[in-house]
Amino acid sequence: MRISARRANFMSQIIAVTAGKGGTGKSTTSANVARGLAALGKRTLLVELDFGLRCLDIMLGIKDKVKHDIGEYLEGKIDILTATTKVETVENLYLVCATRNPFMDINPEKIMGVCEEMRQHFDYIIIDTAGVGSSVFSVIKAAELILMVTTPDTVCVRDGAILSDFLYVKNCTNQRLIINKVSQNFKDEEILYDLDEVMDSVGIQLLGVVPEDNNIKVCGAKGMPLPPTCPGAKAYAAIARRILGEDVPLTININ
Ligand SMILES: Nc1ncnc2c1ncn2[C@@H]1O[C@H](COP(=O)(O)OP(=O)(O)O)[C@@H](O)[C@H]1O
Ligand SMILES: [Mg+2]
Repeated sequence: MRISARRANFMSQIIAVTAGKGGTGKSTTSANVARGLAALGKRTLLVELDFGLRCLDIMLGIKDKVKHDIGEYLEGKIDILTATTKVETVENLYLVCATRNPFMDINPEKIMGVCEEMRQHFDYIIIDTAGVGSSVFSVIKAAELILMVTTPDTVCVRDGAILSDFLYVKNCTNQRLIINKVSQNFKDEEILYDLDEVMDSVGIQLLGVVPEDNNIKVCGAKGMPLPPTCPGAKAYAAIARRILGEDVPLTININ
């Protein structure tokens, strides 16, 4: 099975990370895929659109370093480079944090304008869309690659399938699936699908399978990089390589 997401005529690429449900791992995926691309030498910008519920600053270990956010940019108080914080511990990685104001208008045109402007500075711009509302949708539509994150549980898979179908109808066809929080013995549990069932139900090409890994939870909460040999780190490193177009086998065995 070939699982990659190579694009012809590479230039900077906007990647939107979305899901049909909360808690599936959109922010975790955004942070770790961004770390993975940065580790491969790609200048990477993370843009967090979870207005009022920012978390990427914690996950990247820079919560005390962030001085500005996208809200101040949208209000016209600062320019976008001022709203950008370098992740000092990771070469090539930068973050535009979400505003703390949950009621702020996301203003998709302005956000897409920012992403277009940032293309000249970055190889990859990863947008943690935090979900799909009417305003976030136009941001997703403008992305060259959409990462649909689902867990294998039946509720999450159905919502992922609904969202994926909706996006297809709206001509968002370059979708790839990330199946997250996969436990090695998940087949025993009736509420969970196996990987083939997840892929069949959501109906989009697989880009990666990420195991349930306590390192992911702990390192996310502490803002630390994953230990490189843990199962979660291997899965994200493989996903980053596939985004670059490499044909990398799955990193976990599910029998
Ligand atoms: N593969 C995984 N293994 C273990 N915990 C995970 C995994 N992916 C995400 N988590 C945890 O699940 C919770 C929700 O993840 P998060 O990325 O915030 O979801 P979302 O952004 O979709 O709401 C977090 O506590 C995170 O650490
Ligand atoms: Mg999130």
